[in-house]
Amino acid sequence: MCGIIGYIGKRQIIPVLLEGLRRLEYRGYDSAGIVFLEKNKIKVIKTKGRIFNLEEKIFKKPPLEAKAPGLGHTRWATHGEPSDENAHPHMDCKEELSLVHNGIIENYYELKQKLLKKGHRFCSATDTEVIVHLVEDYLNEGLNIKEAFFRTLKDLKGSFAIALIYKKHPEFILVARNQSPVVLGVGEEENFVASDIPALLPFTKKVVFLNDGEVAILYKDKIEVYDSKKNKIEKEPVLISWDLASAEKGGYAHFMLKEICEQPEAIKHTLLGRINLDNKEIDFSKEGLVKEFLEDVQKVFIVACGTSYHAGLVAKYLIERHLEIPVEVDLASEFRYRNPLINSKTLFIGVSQSGETADTLASLRLAKEKGAKILSICNVLGSTIARESGVVLYTQAGPEISVASTKAFTTQVLVFILLAFYLKKMLYGKDEDKEKVDALIKISNQLDNFIEKIRPKIKEISEKWHNISNCLYLGRNILFPIALEGALKLKEIAYIHAEGYAAGEMKHGPIALIEENVPSIILAAKETGIVYEKTLSNAEEVKSRRGPIISIISENSEEFKKISYDYIEVPLTFYEFLPIFYVVPLQLLAYEIAALRGCDIDKPRNLAKSVTVE
Ligand code: F6R
Repeated sequence: MCGIIGYIGKRQIIPVLLEGLRRLEYRGYDSAGIVFLEKNKIKVIKTKGRIFNLEEKIFKKPPLEAKAPGLGHTRWATHGEPSDENAHPHMDCKEELSLVHNGIIENYYELKQKLLKKGHRFCSATDTEVIVHLVEDYLNEGLNIKEAFFRTLKDLKGSFAIALIYKKHPEFILVARNQSPVVLGVGEEENFVASDIPALLPFTKKVVFLNDGEVAILYKDKIEVYDSKKNKIEKEPVLISWDLASAEKGGYAHFMLKEICEQPEAIKHTLLGRINLDNKEIDFSKEGLVKEFLEDVQKVFIVACGTSYHAGLVAKYLIERHLEIPVEVDLASEFRYRNPLINSKTLFIGVSQSGETADTLASLRLAKEKGAKILSICNVLGSTIARESGVVLYTQAGPEISVASTKAFTTQVLVFILLAFYLKKMLYGKDEDKEKVDALIKISNQLDNFIEKIRPKIKEISEKWHNISNCLYLGRNILFPIALEGALKLKEIAYIHAEGYAAGEMKHGPIALIEENVPSIILAAKETGIVYEKTLSNAEEVKSRRGPIISIISENSEEFKKISYDYIEVPLTFYEFLPIFYVVPLQLLAYEIAALRGCDIDKPRNLAKSVTVE
């Protein structure tokens, strides 16, 4: 969702802001803007649309003397339609302050009414604009800018990451955070603020994460951080291991394709340091996952959203197969508003690529409050969910820029596979998965070859089917969540209505949808035993109603080949690894179809990468 970049230092301000904004584009936005100082005045340039629209506007009438500090923003509309007026940055009545905001101010309406009565003039329909007028109001009352900023924060209800500049104090940027991500970039005689690490990578890898309630004052040569009670606190910068290249397309047409093809590498990195190559033992103890943490666990809740939720569904099959612990998997937006039965013997596992998803975070906090042990599986170092968890297992997928999640999913599944094997050994002393662990070490190369092999065939299939309006994805057992994930991918990037179903449920309703122009993508693996035969029967039922079948099947599944219009063969593997192999053709299929339909693949309409509001 909204992206923030801010800079104080000697560089030319406009290129820094535009570069930062470009690197935040993937978060999803519908308008963009920047603010800087020009001849000691606040100068705002903003527009509805994309960053290139903003650039056009800037360079039509290039500023003569643009100076830091400056802020940039990409807005994903919540209050007020996407428009020039509603785009950030916003200014106070006197045009001395300017501010960008990510999040939602829940009490904006009552604040606005009060400010209007006091004579403040508003230029937008946003919730954000109240913040800058509030600061102005406190300045009018005689507070200094820092006091006015702190005082304003006290009045706000909701989620926010805020950056503010004041023309009378160009020597600093004020930053605050509550439930919306903010990261500070530390440079030499320069400092940055951003809502996400990729915006900082061209400039610095040294970062400081802010916690909820904290305020930072960025000078060019120092950063001061305060807690909510205005006590000054010390924060150690952290060094980010992601490099700039990993956040660039590197010759691929889209980030999504790059990230699909990066999966073998992401798997390698996620395994690194977690498997002892000599004795094939998995070790998460260095990450805090020790016996004491888990010994009395009687129930597991896995909670997540979207693709991460699908990884959670896969995990249910893995954990219940290997451990004698019941598992419930929940959508975070549902979990947080019901009354889940949680106590100190519950293990809550939050799964999130970004580590910032509002519903997942709220669910985690709810579980924590009720005494659960908190484990999270995250991709972004230092993200809020990671920081609020008792133990974090990082997926080492590198930055995922495409809105549609791919490599995060496969690495989340991989972490769950490792976790199931690790816990089995730790809790029951069962050490029977060495052969599988050995195979895991080789899975990266196998997957690489598989991707290369299937790409031409997937292109061919996509050419035939890219004009469809409806599509079914069917699978059973551990491939059911993969059917859901395949359908989600097609929906979100190709805008085709797709439904994922457990193949056994077809007779209970969805089979009525079958007709000649509604293909069913059926997933079947011999490794699932009897379920494979059952899926074959479900496929026959589709076929006999003239439904075209595209099957993703184990090698040499002759019965399926006979009834399929098209098929992709998957090499035989272990049951646990099926999700990794079966999801890849579905990711590629959605990608190729979306490309043929001319969709904006990396930034699909209406979507945001990091969903920081509920
Ligand atoms: C789909 C997708 C989303 C995310 C969901 C959760 O391709 O990317 O469904 O999976 O928004 O995001 P994280 O994993 O960051 O919590």
